[in-house]
Amino acid sequence: MSRRVGAAEIAARKGASFPMITAYDAPFARSVEAAGIDVILVGDSLGQVVLGFDSTAQVELADMIRHGAAVARATERAHIVVDLPFGSYEASDQLAVASATELVKRGGASSIKLEGGANAASRIGAIVRSGIPVCAHIGVLPQTASLGSGFRLKRERDRLLRDADAVVEAGAFAVVLEMVEDALAAEITQRIPIPTIGIGAGPHCDGQVLVLHDVLGLYPDAPPFAKQYAALRESATTALRAYADDVRARTFPRERTKAVARDGNGYRT
Ligand code: KIV
Repeated sequence: MSRRVGAAEIAARKGASFPMITAYDAPFARSVEAAGIDVILVGDSLGQVVLGFDSTAQVELADMIRHGAAVARATERAHIVVDLPFGSYEASDQLAVASATELVKRGGASSIKLEGGANAASRIGAIVRSGIPVCAHIGVLPQTASLGSGFRLKRERDRLLRDADAVVEAGAFAVVLEMVEDALAAEITQRIPIPTIGIGAGPHCDGQVLVLHDVLGLYPDAPPFAKQYAALRESATTALRAYADDVRARTFPRERTKAVARDGNGYRT
């Protein structure tokens, strides 16, 4: 029996205001859980913020499995949503179920997320029927936005309402609203029975999600809607410069004066 927060527990947070954040590796997943955030997204933003690609389109299923598993190993209670990357679900329901199953079996996923509204309803339904909970994602869809549709704020009311209704009907337990105009995000949140999780979609969603590297100041191209709570890039550079200076000045390491034993890590000196 899993000790992790389940999809049904998250679905029951409708009307609450809950935080979700991305993580891609063990050290930061530990920090997220220690901060009391119990919904982690192993997003395919991995492509830009960790792997150095210029979009999410180059991310492979194997990348998501590797990083999802690292996050799962480092956490105990958090619900782990793992993104189905571009190319791993669009072609058929069968492919979508096979890829989602891999994310659960080997990638530590408690649930999966995929991009698309009415056009993705068949994929969502197939994955849900296979027993895997699905978080939907409508509004700006980064996987294809980088190929042409762009990252402009979404205001098309009819289309977004249709997409929101379709993902609910297909069985999603929650839906990410990315860059949806605030009043429209509020209307969707009022309209549908599952939690909306906003990113650049204003304050009226049930939950909020941000990219970890934007929050911590580790990524230079953070979007304007992200809030930066720390400046870790500068802190890291300062620390690394101090280390390099010490080595150049021969002030690190010091001469060994007495034996040190670190049983926990197996080091003996
Ligand atoms: O990959 C990601 O980080 C995401 C968020 C933008 C919601 O999908």
